Formats: sequence, structure tokens, C-alpha cells
Amino acid sequence: MQTIVVESKERGAEKVVELVREEMEAGRLNVLGLATGSTMEPVYEKMVASDLDFTNVTAFNLDEYIGIPATHKNSYAYYMDQLLFNKKPFKETHIENGMAEDLDAECVRYETLLKENPLDMQFLGIGENGHIAFNEPGTSPESVTHVVELTQSTIDVNSQYFTADETMPVTALTMGISSIMQAKKLIVAAFGEKKRAALEKLFAGEVTTEWPVTYLLDHPDVTVITDLKL
Ligand code: GLP
Repeated sequence: MQTIVVESKERGAEKVVELVREEMEAGRLNVLGLATGSTMEPVYEKMVASDLDFTNVTAFNLDEYIGIPATHKNSYAYYMDQLLFNKKPFKETHIENGMAEDLDAECVRYETLLKENPLDMQFLGIGENGHIAFNEPGTSPESVTHVVELTQSTIDVNSQYFTADETMPVTALTMGISSIMQAKKLIVAAFGEKKRAALEKLFAGEVTTEWPVTYLLDHPDVTVITDLKL
């Protein structure tokens, strides 16, 4: 695991884009896994402002809420369209369909697509409770794309984005730990004190299902970008 300590989230975002550029210039980036959350906002801002051309790159997103349409301002599909896809064209973009009638079939569909398009690089943020994508504490390392019930901790943190008259979904679709671990390169971004506990667990070097981020210790190519000195 490689760690890059930066002085700010902005600088961290620049670093992520530099890593993307490196892979693109080396001809190693055909499939890029994307993440959502506030951590990724400056990353997409900088990707949009860059001269990078993604028209030959296929994108896959990690996760999506169940029960809100892609037109809802809090869906991850909407987030991606607004922040990146409407401004930078990609060859193809994929995200789980949280409105699918048959959610189990949707998981199989998504995992099959991932198998057909192996991820060259995957961006990851970290939840305060150590979740990656929506893989909450207790998730099996063997997990593939699946339906999750969000934990109270995640609901508390993410509910800030929903207004009082909106009901926040409490279930989601997410790539599993195993789906994420298949990516050739993982880029983990974590900024701010709220991420300290999760990063401490990661740097402690012991894999535990209680802190899903620690599964990354078993991956051969992980770069952590953070503004925390641990
Ligand atoms: C959500 C997403 C995760 C993301 C996490 C961190 O729960 N499902 O993929 O990593 O939030 O979000 P933030 O970057 O806003 O701290």
C-alpha cells in the first residue's frame, strides 16, 4: 500500500487526476470505476477542467440507492451526470439501477458487466464507519454486487443531503468487496478528521470485517491519498 499525504482535499484531488493521467498516457485505462460522495466532488471538477479525453473509457459506479430514480437530485446517477458525465463524455457509463423491479437480477446483470469489462482503476472513498461503496461492517470479502440495508451510522451521515420532506432510502445496491478487489488499481481518497478512525484501522494492518476498508490490505496495488497525518 502506498500513501500520499497532501495538504488539502484540493491537492488530493489533483493527485487523483495525476494518477488517472499516468494510467491513460501509459494506455492502461480502458475501464474506470468511479465513486460518489463529497470526497469525489473536487476530483470530478478537476477531471472536467483537464484536457483528458475519456471518450474511449468505460465507467462503472460503485453503488446506488434503491427506490429513487436517476432524475432525483440525491441519486448517484444524477450526481454523476451533473458533476462529470454531462461535461466530459465517456465511451459508456454504468451504474446499478435502483429502480429495477427485480433487484437480484439487476445485481447479476451488473456483476456480469463487470466481469466482461475488468476495472483497470477504481476510485474509493471511505465511510466514517469504514464502509467502502455501501459495503457495511460485517460484509463478506466474497461478496459481489448485492442489495444492502444501510447501517444507522450511514443513514445519519448521508441524511444531511436529503431535505426534511424527502425520505432517505435505507437500502442500496453496491458492488461487493470481491467486485472491488478485482480492480487492478485502487485509489482511496479520505480527507478530514471524520475519516481518521477508518484510516487508523487500515494502517493498523489487520483485516477485520468490522472495518471493510481493511479488506484493501489484501490488494496488491492500493494508493491512499489523505490529508491526515497518522
Ligand atoms: C457514501 C458512498 C461511499 C462513499 C462514502 C463517503 O456512503 N456510498 O461510496 O465513499 O459515502 O462519502 P463522503 O465522501 O461524502 O465522505
